[in-house]
Amino acid sequence: MNIRLATVDDLMGMQACNLQNLPENYTMKYYLYHALTWPQLSYVAEDHKGRIVGYILAKMEEDVNEGDESYGHVTSISVLRSYRRLGLAKRLMVQSQEAMATVYRASYVSLHVRKSNRAALALYKDTLGFTVKNIEKKYYADGEDAYAMQLSLKHLA
Ligand code: ACO
Repeated sequence: MNIRLATVDDLMGMQACNLQNLPENYTMKYYLYHALTWPQLSYVAEDHKGRIVGYILAKMEEDVNEGDESYGHVTSISVLRSYRRLGLAKRLMVQSQEAMATVYRASYVSLHVRKSNRAALALYKDTLGFTVKNIEKKYYADGEDAYAMQLSLKHLA
């Protein structure tokens, strides 16, 4: 399975993958905004026929006060069910994190995850080393709480 930078041509495939995997969905305009504003931060995983089987949609945080550290944010990541546990999500995360640090000098990366999402929590905490910074009550549309997680990228800068 190949991991490569996402292009504008990939956005429909990424959106299709997201719709299959997650209840948090986004307009095509929002995908396009990511791809055009931070073209180095979003990646896709493709099978041998070039079909998109996973993606990471990522950005730099825009609401940063003057003098504060800049940081990246993972808007969404998912991998199609039959391609899970192959290390794709880990590779997608690491690629994006490296680009956040080297291209944008991000000090850290943040994300939100459902409290009940055991697979994603294991990926973030155990495999990648994220820590929980905060619990955001009723963050999701159905009322579930989110963990706000962060990982330092200072070693990559
Ligand atoms: N149970 C326990 N640990 C898991 C699981 C699981 N089901 N899946 C992954 N992990 C952990 C393991 O430690 C794993 O390492 P190992 O396989 O050597 O044990 C490690 O994470 C790396 O796993 P990957 O193979 O890289 O993960 P995968 O490609 O399967 O994708 C993902 C993980 C993205 C969470 C996938 O299960 C998925 O798409 N889920 C549905 C969508 C989703 O929940 N996305 C995250 C939402 S939060 C957000 O987008 C910011």
